[in-house]
Amino acid sequence: MDFTTIKGFKDILPWETGTWQRLDRVGRSIFRSFGFQEIMPPLMEMTELFSRSIGEDTDIVSKEMYTLTDSRGKGMTLRPEATASLVRAYIQHRLYEKNPIQKLFLIGPMFRHERPQKGRFRQFHQIDAEILGDPGPRSDAEIIVLAMALFEAVGLTGLSLQINSLGNPDCRSAFREELRKYLVQKITFLCTDCQRRADTNPLRVFDCKVEGCGEVVSNAPSILDYICEDCTTHFKSVQEYLQISGIPFSVNHRLVRGLDYYTRTTFEIQTDRLGAQNAVLGGGRYDGLSKQLGGPDHPAIGFALGIERLVTLLDEQGSQAAPVPDLFIAGLGPEAEKKVFRWANDLRRAGLWVEIDYSSKGLKAQLKRADRLGARKVLIVGDNELASGKGILRDMAAKAQTEMALDDLLSYFKNKGQ
Ligand code: HAM
Repeated sequence: MDFTTIKGFKDILPWETGTWQRLDRVGRSIFRSFGFQEIMPPLMEMTELFSRSIGEDTDIVSKEMYTLTDSRGKGMTLRPEATASLVRAYIQHRLYEKNPIQKLFLIGPMFRHERPQKGRFRQFHQIDAEILGDPGPRSDAEIIVLAMALFEAVGLTGLSLQINSLGNPDCRSAFREELRKYLVQKITFLCTDCQRRADTNPLRVFDCKVEGCGEVVSNAPSILDYICEDCTTHFKSVQEYLQISGIPFSVNHRLVRGLDYYTRTTFEIQTDRLGAQNAVLGGGRYDGLSKQLGGPDHPAIGFALGIERLVTLLDEQGSQAAPVPDLFIAGLGPEAEKKVFRWANDLRRAGLWVEIDYSSKGLKAQLKRADRLGARKVLIVGDNELASGKGILRDMAAKAQTEMALDDLLSYFKNKGQ
């Protein structure tokens, strides 16, 4: 074999795409009911867009971006996430002038050069949703309710929602100072990356997967003891709205998320069925990002859901019924083959999934193929059936046969055949 997919990249195979399509369908209908519109930015952006929004010290920017340089020496990067692109588009096209509250969604691939493992790929897909332009706790709660509605609609259970508040940059700086002091005391227990981060960006130590660093942060001070009154009131109100929406959650003061742009509410929806990659969805508020990127000082909140992780969980839960043809028409003899070809295409135009034989095989071989495809029904038409105007309709599950008038074929399947 000369070529295979690149490490960390994968084919989504024909028997898997059904689940992806279902997710896409269900997702779109939920977005519609919450008033979200689709946006499709390009896959590549200027490198600086990501380094300035996600943060130089994050794993994503410091280690994981697919970056190339164009002929004029400009850095371009395959998007590792969607929020930065969305905010760039919001500013560039002044979307806020059309409507002060923009609710946007995006479905598509992202690229991160991480070490591949279960639930972690180098090309993966996200469903991303953002509300731009509203500072209030109701949009925080609404975006979380929307996330939960997506999981409910696809029938995924066994998830837990964790929330936290990171305060605003002012009140967070007091915490950052306290955390830095704490980390400096424990510096010898930290990995080399975190020894540096303890000074440059102490919150990022919370993301580190190294065991020693995990132990150190488990006893770190809680950010919730440091955030200001306004941020505390906001966080309490988000919790109240989740309670009245009947959404269970737990507060986790160590949930800082691996991107620098977050302010106030952060959240993650987790599973215990994917090993180390336990986050199926993550998000939060990023009130300063638009201004930081040269746009208006507008608040925003959003989330991204990892489609591969969701699909794996759905498959493990066994809730996927593979789609099957509505009808297989077995034509026997040259005359019947021509009629069958025509009928199959008429029925397809009426929206049915119809299969036929392509190689003039006998009845036994055709029935075998219909069975392998899982066809619900088989219509058998040979010379005798053409002469009498009545075909034999076989229900494959019930293993029962009836006669049916061939003139009624189209109306039968359009109205009650399925
Ligand atoms: P994130 O936590 O980096 O957040 O990614 C969101 C989700 O994408 C994760 O919970 C996970 O399900 C999936 N994901 C991330 N990396 C991989 C990977 N290598 N392989 C498979 N799945 C992965 C963000 O991307 C933020 N932009 C979310 C956000 C939107 N915050 C505000 N608005």
